[in-house]
Amino acid sequence: FMVDKGNHRHFMEKEIYEQPEIISHALSHYIDFATHTVKANDTAIDFGKVSGLAIAACGTAYLSGLIGKYWFERYARLPVEIDVASEFRYRELPLSPSQAALFISQSGETADTLASLRYCKDNGLKIGAVVNVKESTIARESDAIFPILAGPEIGVASTKAFTCQLAVLAALAIGAGRARGTVTAGDEKAMVKHLAEMPRIMSRVLNDIQPQIEALSRELSRFKDVLYLGRGTSFPLAMEGALKLKEISYIHAEGYAAGELKHGPIALIDEHMPVIVIAPHDRFFEKTVSNMQEVAARGGKIIFITDEKGAAASKLPTMATIALPNVDEIIAPMIFSLPIQLLAYHTAVFMGTDVDQPRNLAKSVTVE
Ligand code: AGP
Repeated sequence: FMVDKGNHRHFMEKEIYEQPEIISHALSHYIDFATHTVKANDTAIDFGKVSGLAIAACGTAYLSGLIGKYWFERYARLPVEIDVASEFRYRELPLSPSQAALFISQSGETADTLASLRYCKDNGLKIGAVVNVKESTIARESDAIFPILAGPEIGVASTKAFTCQLAVLAALAIGAGRARGTVTAGDEKAMVKHLAEMPRIMSRVLNDIQPQIEALSRELSRFKDVLYLGRGTSFPLAMEGALKLKEISYIHAEGYAAGELKHGPIALIDEHMPVIVIAPHDRFFEKTVSNMQEVAARGGKIIFITDEKGAAASKLPTMATIALPNVDEIIAPMIFSLPIQLLAYHTAVFMGTDVDQPRNLAKSVTVE
């Protein structure tokens, strides 16, 4: 069927703005909005019994998996082995049939992800597919399908598929924690409530930050290199922000764990390389701010993506401070995805690139 841009300039913009509605729909498959519990969907994977998880995926899907790893480990106390599928498939990783494996893919056709799936299948693991296209090869070859229900994603740069993958992984991790006795009924209720409130917060954020991000993007489009920093779940998000910038604005960007700054990249800091710091006021905030201080002390320009509490707590001079609403840490990665998507989008628009069809890229990579 036909998908059009509606009143948006690009599919990417449309897909960014449809996230609140689409996530709410996706969540309704996994959580019960009335009881604030994770739905006991009957699947072939018993997260209560598995000894660990293996996750493989590529690009943006890999980065959502990396955030999923933090959640499965923290909330369900499940060890997670994760790698980009092109490495995973050749690592000869020792696996046991007591583990389950998750393959995350928007298209469900990515060659390396499919090869990793087959490797796990040969090792006797139960296979779960976190996919957008339910009729895809990866879905067909899996024991359990966890649809992300994002609807067709046309823009080559993944946006709504990423946040829907995160929403599904969050629900799965909470459900796994519940099944394993590491998440109490009270914790489950609290976390699911936050997930249920998320679409409304996303709408508000999209609406509120747009003018500021557009103005900032004009400035950003003058730079050749950008460093993105984050800690905890904000680290994969920093890599996702860098990936988005590279893909559509062709600005060289790198995502780094904030704590790794002093182990090398700090040598690059000068006034020509803005540093985008993702730091909600969470348990890592002080640490990340001290890394930010190191940037400021070397004349680096800082773009600070934080929340209201974080903005009030830091006195460092910045090129821009984007203050999102204070949200619970379980939904922070989805909320903080919005400014990084919009920043890449508007920067690309200022650069005049082909936003929906960036050079050299294919929406689905079906060859190795
Ligand atoms: C995302 O913006 C990219 N275009 C790319 O990294 C993508 O996420 C990757 O190729 C994986 O695709 P898949 O989700 O369809 O497997």
